[in-house]
Amino acid sequence: MPVAAMRVLVLANQKGGVGKTTTAINLGTALAAIGERVLIVDLDPQGNASTGLGIDRESRKISTYDVLSGQERLGAVLRETGVPRLFIAPSTLDLVGFELEIAARPDRAYCLKKALSVLADEQNAAEAEERFTYVLVDCPPSLNLLTMNAMAAAHAVLVPLQCEFFALEGLSQLLTTVEEVRKSLNPGLTMHGIVLTMFDSRNTFAAQVVADVRGFMGDKVYETVIPRNVRVSEAPSHGKPVLLYDLKCSGSQAYLKLASEMIQRERGNGVAAGGKGADGRDSPSGFLRAKAKVVVCGPLKQTEF
Ligand SMILES: Nc1ncnc2c1ncn2[C@@H]1O[C@H](COP(=O)(O)OP(=O)(O)OP(=O)(O)O)[C@@H](O)[C@H]1O
Ligand SMILES: [Mg+2]
Repeated sequence: MPVAAMRVLVLANQKGGVGKTTTAINLGTALAAIGERVLIVDLDPQGNASTGLGIDRESRKISTYDVLSGQERLGAVLRETGVPRLFIAPSTLDLVGFELEIAARPDRAYCLKKALSVLADEQNAAEAEERFTYVLVDCPPSLNLLTMNAMAAAHAVLVPLQCEFFALEGLSQLLTTVEEVRKSLNPGLTMHGIVLTMFDSRNTFAAQVVADVRGFMGDKVYETVIPRNVRVSEAPSHGKPVLLYDLKCSGSQAYLKLASEMIQRERGNGVAAGGKGADGRDSPSGFLRAKAKVVVCGPLKQTEF
């Protein structure tokens, strides 16, 4: 399967505001920092991932809408970001109409998969250091046709879950949907993991929520918990990932740790994209170097940025 060269991970949760986009942007940045070449595909008409990475709405002449509707190649719409090795295929409000427009097409759930296959073919012809190793698909807060397209094209699902009282509400429905997609659209789809987000130690429920989710989902829950951190919420208004906005803050550190844990899990499962930076190293390099001293967990050694 041509898409196999790139690991395609979908960030999905039909609940709104749980940290899907924040995780796509900052996990993508952290993966790029440790040498992966990452493409974020914005499949949400809100376009928050695109805005958060500094892509003005006015400049989005072509978008993921054009890709899904078959008018443009994914490779033609992707844009550079302020982060080396991190690219984004931006979205626009046009995506709102996508579902209605293609509802009658028998291949309606495979539009993204086809676009990724074409990109993978193009990538095969490219130099090794120009090939994407990870594609992160940011979904809207709905289990609609856009999310189905993402799940049909992905290797695995990553579920951001906010550490709040109703965290588990809706998780069963999401897990059922993943199972249904596996049976019908994409037999290879796996559940990569659950990322607990916006953990607030002052909230009395938060620790209980973490314990409950771990009790329910076991080792599918990442060890790394993303704290609630004001710098994380400020960064998008500057069009930057928090890792560029404030590398030392607890949110940045948590996303670096998450990326490291994710890669470690991928390698443990023998499915890592195997991508290293152009310099062929494992450790963070280039754009974050010399900014701060950071301990990165997992297989990466303590590294100076
Ligand atoms: N760790 C964090 N600390 C503080 N604020 C956060 C954190 N993570 C996310 N936020 C804020 O919470 C809000 C929701 O986050 P985000 O947009 O990532 O969620 P989402 O699941 O993508 O939402 P939607 O379902 O609308 O697409 C945003 O304002 C974001 O800045
Ligand atoms: Mg979002």
